[in-house]
Amino acid sequence: MARFLRIFYSSVLLIVLCVHFGTVRCQDERPRKAKADEKKTEDFECPTSTGNGNYADPVMCKRFYQCVDGFPYVNRCPSGLHFDDISKYCTFKNEARCGPIASTPAPVTEEPTDLAVKCDLEKCQLPYCFCSKDGTLIPGNLDPEDTPQMILLTFDGAVNLNNYDHYRKVLNHKRKNPNGCEIRGTFFISHEYSNYHMIQELASEGHEMGTETISLQHGLENKGYEEWVGEMVGMRDILKHLSNISKSDVVGMRAPFLKPGRNTQYKVLEEFGYIFDSSIGVPALPIPVWPYTLDYKIPHECKSGTCPTKSFPGVWEVPLNTHYVEGFEGGHCPYLDQCVLHNHDADDVFEWLQEDFLRYYDQNRAPYMMPFHTNWFSIKELEKGLHKFLAWAETLDDVWFVTTTQALTWITDPKPASQLSNYEPWACDRKETLPPKPCKLPNKCALSFKRPELNVTDTRYLETCMECPRQYPWLDDATGSGVLGKDNYVPDNVRK
Ligand SMILES: *[C@@H]1O[C@H](CO)[C@@H](O)[C@H](O)[C@H]1NC(C)=O
Ligand SMILES: *[C@@H]1O[C@H](CO)[C@@H](O)[C@H](O)[C@H]1NC(C)=O
Repeated sequence: MARFLRIFYSSVLLIVLCVHFGTVRCQDERPRKAKADEKKTEDFECPTSTGNGNYADPVMCKRFYQCVDGFPYVNRCPSGLHFDDISKYCTFKNEARCGPIASTPAPVTEEPTDLAVKCDLEKCQLPYCFCSKDGTLIPGNLDPEDTPQMILLTFDGAVNLNNYDHYRKVLNHKRKNPNGCEIRGTFFISHEYSNYHMIQELASEGHEMGTETISLQHGLENKGYEEWVGEMVGMRDILKHLSNISKSDVVGMRAPFLKPGRNTQYKVLEEFGYIFDSSIGVPALPIPVWPYTLDYKIPHECKSGTCPTKSFPGVWEVPLNTHYVEGFEGGHCPYLDQCVLHNHDADDVFEWLQEDFLRYYDQNRAPYMMPFHTNWFSIKELEKGLHKFLAWAETLDDVWFVTTTQALTWITDPKPASQLSNYEPWACDRKETLPPKPCKLPNKCALSFKRPELNVTDTRYLETCMECPRQYPWLDDATGSGVLGKDNYVPDNVRK
């Protein structure tokens, strides 16, 4: 049985990876292709230290290897795309960082002391604590029909010309929640190639900005406290400097590649005033899991293997439930663009999303998170199918598209669905203080960029309403002052 499952899992993994790179017909061609390329493939050795995953071809930037159980499958990026060895997926040519880029994962030495214990329903009370045995309980013990169905649209990575118009079509000022307010989403921003003018525009409309990391470096899950502070708090600092978004508005974090940083990342969240993390994947369960606080043990299997093990009282986890439909047609995925829907037409995509969504809506109404990368929007049928789904969901009078923080606000003090038309935290009247609107004409900055680990100086462009920095902001220099090692972040709970 275990062996069967492993084989099943690897083939699902292959399918999922295939689609992630948008290689059309990847699935049917795989066996033939693998054979034809066997000669070339033989030259590439899968690293034993880092195991399964994707590795840059040392010769061609379009080509990469998928290592599965030590065997390298050769793969190519779709036309016009190159393999980025930092993020490990195919991306636009001008953004791709060709590999191989060396990485040295540090050994993990964490003592298993004060491990979190199982949920204690008596002790764990809202608003500060929320847990249930298997994570599926509705907060406040509401009945499903009294529970609003929240939808969390999340967008990860850089915001720039390649995706802004696509995101704008989703958040188009026309789609409304039942209270008449425009629908809202959450962004987890990574720095490189981001346009801070666009980010400020989105933030000023009430969309939530959280942080991914500055560099999207791989293997961060094995790194230490300083690295996490530099990546997360540094990213928050850049948003402050270049998009004028105040620190207190940036309270959420998503770890790159959904690889949470074990206890280290959560210590940083706790110490630097973050409210939630949203990086933990939930396996494909029949009933979806609600967000929970990390006072107690995580109520489901940890898919990434790098979840926190200690207790972090009051820190919220907004987990990524796995998307799937019956029979696993299309595979299963935490990010929607990782499922295999590219050979579906727009109606198929709509129906797929609808079936996935109804598992929430018809059962315990856990927030339906729709996590996207820019990839989803590069395939027309997927984008069209999404728009059909959004148009349909908008017609349901108990469905609300809210930011992650708005969702958590409701969870900490649940109100029945019938009482939400005047629910203050989801209103959009003047009482709300939004980040300031951006300027009309941003500065277009061409900045020199020397990646510390490489020996070359490059140019990066960014747009901001603030003054152009002297250099491209990066780790240890979030303001782009040109002075390295200047940033020194002090935890909120330490006197300065
Ligand atoms: C930044 O935002 C604050 C309000 O939060 C505003 O007073 C200030 O003028 C803004 N700065 C710039 C340069 O736009
Ligand atoms: C890196 O830069 C230094 C000085 O700028 C130069 O002497 C050296 O040859 C360079 N190394 C590589 C590998 O390019």
